[in-house]
Amino acid sequence: MRTPLVAGNWKLNGSRPANAQLVDAVLAGVPAAGKCRVMVCPPYVYLADIAQRLQGTSVELAAQDVAEQPDGAFTGEVSAAMLAELGCTHTLIGHSERRTLFGETDNVTAGKFIAAQEAGLIPILCVGETLSEREAGQTQAVVDRQLAAVLDASSVHALATAVVAYEPVWAIGTGLTATPEQAQAVHSAIRSRVAAADAKIAENLIILYGGSMKPGNAAELLAMPDIDGGLIGGASLVAEDFLAICAAAAGTA
Ligand code: PGA
Repeated sequence: MRTPLVAGNWKLNGSRPANAQLVDAVLAGVPAAGKCRVMVCPPYVYLADIAQRLQGTSVELAAQDVAEQPDGAFTGEVSAAMLAELGCTHTLIGHSERRTLFGETDNVTAGKFIAAQEAGLIPILCVGETLSEREAGQTQAVVDRQLAAVLDASSVHALATAVVAYEPVWAIGTGLTATPEQAQAVHSAIRSRVAAADAKIAENLIILYGGSMKPGNAAELLAMPDIDGGLIGGASLVAEDFLAICAAAAGTA
């Protein structure tokens, strides 16, 4: 049985007072333990603050990105060991904004995935197609390629301590959402790919959906058998909306 996971990706948003309010409001409304795991992904500079606020609570902490390198002359980068030291247990890897706006290739993504695991962090590997790729019928090929880059660089066993997030690029921040059937088809294909290499790892793999998930569409997406939670951008900045999605996820547990 996979416990649902709902992670809030704050992206480049927040301030100390706004974060304090948001985190306190989330903490006041998290579902009962065991029903749904809840996670927040604040910008780097706030991680230490938020780690302190989350201490002794069930809400987990993740970074939005990580350096591929462990240390050295890489100005502006933050290593996986540093994130672990601050209290992060997870980090996003290969979010579509990193891939498209910052030129991260599949190879870089695979390097970051490995760097995260080497420092004991659980990577949340983001995959997903653009609108033109979907329209060209390439959705599965793109997702396969993104997944294969990581599997080739490590192995299927690496997915025993990882999470996958399917985020169709055309649905991120656009208000467009994949239908539950569209999302389920990709989630199920991802699980089948992994199952071909290791059935047990596939069965336990948490696969999140991301892309304009909101209180109004969360329940029907989360009801699909291979959708194990959500990676939430915009709606994670409003405690009430984020908690409504967590409640919908808890309802499927
Ligand atoms: P969105 O973002 O919920 O605002 O579409 C999701 C994400 O980018 O992780």
